[in-house]
Amino acid sequence: MNSQTGLCARRLLRSTACALVALAVVSAGAQQVPQGPLLPRDSTDAAIFRGGLVYANYCVTCHGINADGNGRAARLYSPRPANLRTSDKNNGYLALIVRLGGEKLGRSPKMPPWGEELTDEQIRDVAAFVRSVNVVGR
Ligand code: HEC
Repeated sequence: MNSQTGLCARRLLRSTACALVALAVVSAGAQQVPQGPLLPRDSTDAAIFRGGLVYANYCVTCHGINADGNGRAARLYSPRPANLRTSDKNNGYLALIVRLGGEKLGRSPKMPPWGEELTDEQIRDVAAFVRSVNVVGR
């Protein structure tokens, strides 16, 4: 507390004018605090986390909790849901098949098209999640 605010505190404790002076002193001080680099507004980690939630909601039944293609419903399909851990597809293809579904890409129609159901952000996020558990890496 500097002498200005100290004086106020002793003599004019309940005065609005004093409170305003004190506020001005405090905010002037705050403006001088150097700002560090701003935190990133988004990050790959955040996308992977969000994508994990999308995956758990929309993909796990077929592709499985470990993304290895062994979901509870996997045995109903032939060909079976892909093992996303060992998939050799790149990010672009990944997002494309999620958006358009298998049939549009000449694959099994049992891989549903998610373009109507998921937002662009959710598709990007789930692709980031799949990438994060993929061991082939591209
Ligand atoms: C109803 C079952 C089912 C659901 C739900 C499902 N998939 Fe699939 N998915 C499949 C099947 C079956 C294939 C294999 C298609 C083929 O081989 O022709 C496949 C293939 C894929 C592929 C291609 C991988 C490769 O290496 O070629 C990706 C990527 C994929 N799915 C991601 C997802 C994601 C992400 C979700 C959730 C948003 C999802 N799938 C939900 C059944 C499903």
